[in-house]
Amino acid sequence: MNPSMRSRLLRQGVILLFSASSASVALAAEKDKVDVYKSPACGCCSQWVDHMKQSGFAVEIHNVRNVTPFRERYGVPESMASCHTAMVGGYAIEGHVPAADIKRLLREKPKATGIAVPGMVIGSPGMEQGSTKEPYNVVLFNANGRTRVFSAH
Ligand code: CU
Ligand code: CU
Repeated sequence: MNPSMRSRLLRQGVILLFSASSASVALAAEKDKVDVYKSPACGCCSQWVDHMKQSGFAVEIHNVRNVTPFRERYGVPESMASCHTAMVGGYAIEGHVPAADIKRLLREKPKATGIAVPGMVIGSPGMEQGSTKEPYNVVLFNANGRTRVFSAH
């Protein structure tokens, strides 16, 4: 291989490498980032995090001693409370909300503070107990306390 050909190949290699890495950066940026505030001891929270990761979200875990101040900061009414609070795309997500509902929320972008599955419902994502499934609603809420059913499971 003559030197000029070699340098040309090298240059192309550099360009290829560069475009490949910028493509993967773009791909990573497409993943919606979820910030989760949870107690380090919460097992069902970790299972919900796994459910979110498996559904294609980029999850950042914030282990905190008390989740309540984060619920307050992000405008989650006490009546909606569950075991963990998350933020994604400017929305608050409280409790074991299915990833599919969060994707729909981010797609439809309703005027709301967030969505919640209040309490700890058996059979919701991260709360699986065999085949037992309690029916539950995902509730859309606003900081003024107004709520409506977002989806029923
Ligand atoms: Cu839980
Ligand atoms: Cu939790």
